[in-house]
Amino acid sequence: MTSSRTDPAPIRPLVAGNWKMHGLKAQLAEAATLRAALEGALVPHGIDVMICPPATLIMELARLAAGTRLAVGAQDCHWLPAGAHTGDISAEMLHDAGASAVIVGHSERRAGYGELDHIVKAKAEAALRAGLAAIVCIGETAGQRRAGLTLDVAARQLAGSLPEASTAADTIIAYEPVWAIGTGLTPTTGEVAEVHAFIRTALIDQLGVQGREMRILYGGSVKPSNAAELLAVPSVNGALVGGASLKAVDLMGIIAACKV
Ligand code: 13P
Repeated sequence: MTSSRTDPAPIRPLVAGNWKMHGLKAQLAEAATLRAALEGALVPHGIDVMICPPATLIMELARLAAGTRLAVGAQDCHWLPAGAHTGDISAEMLHDAGASAVIVGHSERRAGYGELDHIVKAKAEAALRAGLAAIVCIGETAGQRRAGLTLDVAARQLAGSLPEASTAADTIIAYEPVWAIGTGLTPTTGEVAEVHAFIRTALIDQLGVQGREMRILYGGSVKPSNAAELLAVPSVNGALVGGASLKAVDLMGIIAACKV
């Protein structure tokens, strides 16, 4: 492995908040606080910021964020554009509601709904078809890490979940070790570095120059107190934040720790 394959060109970081199934309309006050804070001079302009609220809040958040640097994402989509699929939402509908991105393959959907790699890939393809960026999540369980399978899982999920047509402009990878999500546990910076370098090499092998420039986010118990060290790891191009994204002040703390 040569250093040129592991050290990407400067990549614009993204800090994205995944609100998961949290948030009634009152939660939008946090987004308004975040919007105001992002207008402050202290926040570097070289960082992208996104909130992925529950689907019920996308339209309202898109209105609130219009004309600002706060982007709006969604948390999941169906792979078809429309049809008899009660309860589902298509990527086209999310785009129509004002989202510019959608998370696909989050471990909570892989585990809770049996979403296999080919489903995740179909959803990512739907996102690209609808003009949304796809945030494709991968990551090993605690058992897989204990068994030494972390890199095998990453390789398999990348090979199976990423559309062939993905580019650095329309696809983002989020490495989220399942055991680090919502637990307060995080991998060491050395472990994060190993996996992100592996993902970078795999992306280059799979997508060529597009893989070199694709953003790779780290997710799993990111908070203001650990963000600086996690975000300083090579090939960590931002964070996908769960719990700490629910409070604007916490997300601002993470954004402030982001290298640009
Ligand atoms: P936490 O930041 O709450 O661990 O969640 C991470 C996550 O799953 C983001 O998608």
